Amino acid sequence: MKPANPQPIEAATKFELSHKVALFTESVIREMTRLAIANKAVNLSQGFPDFPAPAEIKRAAQDAVAADINQYAITWGAKNFRDAITAKWAERTGITIDPEREITVCCGSTESLMSTMMAIINPGDEVVIFEPFYENYGPDGIISGATPRFVKLHAPDWRFDPDELAAAFGPKTKAIILNTPNNPTGKVFERAELELIRDLCVKWNCLAITDEIYEYMLYDGAEHISLATLEGMRDRTVTINALSKTYGVTGWRVGWAIAPPEVTFAIRKCHDFLTVGAAAPLQDAGATALRFPHDYYTKLATDYAARRERLLGILEKSGFRCYKPHGAYYIMTDISGFGFPDDVAFAKHLVTEIGVAAVPGSSFYRDPAHGRRCMTWSSMTMAGSSPAAGPATRAVPA
Ligand SMILES: Cc1ncc(COP(=O)(O)O)c(C=O)c1O
Repeated sequence: MKPANPQPIEAATKFELSHKVALFTESVIREMTRLAIANKAVNLSQGFPDFPAPAEIKRAAQDAVAADINQYAITWGAKNFRDAITAKWAERTGITIDPEREITVCCGSTESLMSTMMAIINPGDEVVIFEPFYENYGPDGIISGATPRFVKLHAPDWRFDPDELAAAFGPKTKAIILNTPNNPTGKVFERAELELIRDLCVKWNCLAITDEIYEYMLYDGAEHISLATLEGMRDRTVTINALSKTYGVTGWRVGWAIAPPEVTFAIRKCHDFLTVGAAAPLQDAGATALRFPHDYYTKLATDYAARRERLLGILEKSGFRCYKPHGAYYIMTDISGFGFPDDVAFAKHLVTEIGVAAVPGSSFYRDPAHGRRCMTWSSMTMAGSSPAAGPATRAVPA
């Protein structure tokens, strides 16, 4: 049968395509998802909730469509949604922002980050990125034209070496990208670490972009601290967040960037010409979500803690060395005991022969060799509410 969407392979060779795009591969996580589907495997590579989104938020979206909130919202975000973000940010951090000048609503945190990078980067600018890093940060840097300076987070507790961090900053540094709670390590940055980052940002007069999408997924008493709350950081931090993970609506594509007015002004211009705006009815429903009571977030953390425990138990029983995460919903593991030449070969073996998909660690490093002994698993689908959770309990042969 003819494929529904044949790849124009020959056509591609006729044109000189973007050199920048040639510098990165397609998303490894999405590739693993495709392999999982093709092999009918349990997908522990991508954070797909296998449980329903909250009924209230779905009803709010239905109501918004029925009420004909179906046309373009204001480019940088519907007013009621920006007001809800402002109220939530004030409640979480004690910081009062101006929703007219300091928020840009985008299509997920993905676009928030890309628009931010495009808004701030000039040729020659450097951006400090901790590695292992969430895979988007690499292409974000390349597309925006930034030169990345990677700083290692070291297992088992994923601390960085303060001297190495200091050495990565200099006169060309435009920003640091931080992700706390962290994908893929589960690290939650502590106040002392954030203070070191703050001191360097102030010293070199650069921005911090902080991706806080997992802010509510915390375990073992870990505390989430927004970098913007540290003295000296309010006016140099872009805080990125989204509805995706906190409300289990990754497909809605609604996120936002909170930034000082002049930075917001530039982000809004990039955002406008990239996407015009995020889905209007879903922004309306997002305003409802952001007003959920405290219990919602407590239950969220409790449920994710149970998933983490379940997956930790399975992985440890199967022979993986686990680095226990304190936040987010990923578990980084050491696979050196399994005798495979590298993480990609092992990931392919797991998905085709065992029926479970995970993410090869090399995809989180600039030099793949540094991630060859690692593999990351998402505990998102460990609720046991879906038949898909079943085969994950199969033993992985050593
Ligand atoms: C650290 C981090 N940031 C951003 C995203 C993507 O967020 P969104 O769906 O809001 O674009 C993910 C998704 O896995 C992530 O892990």
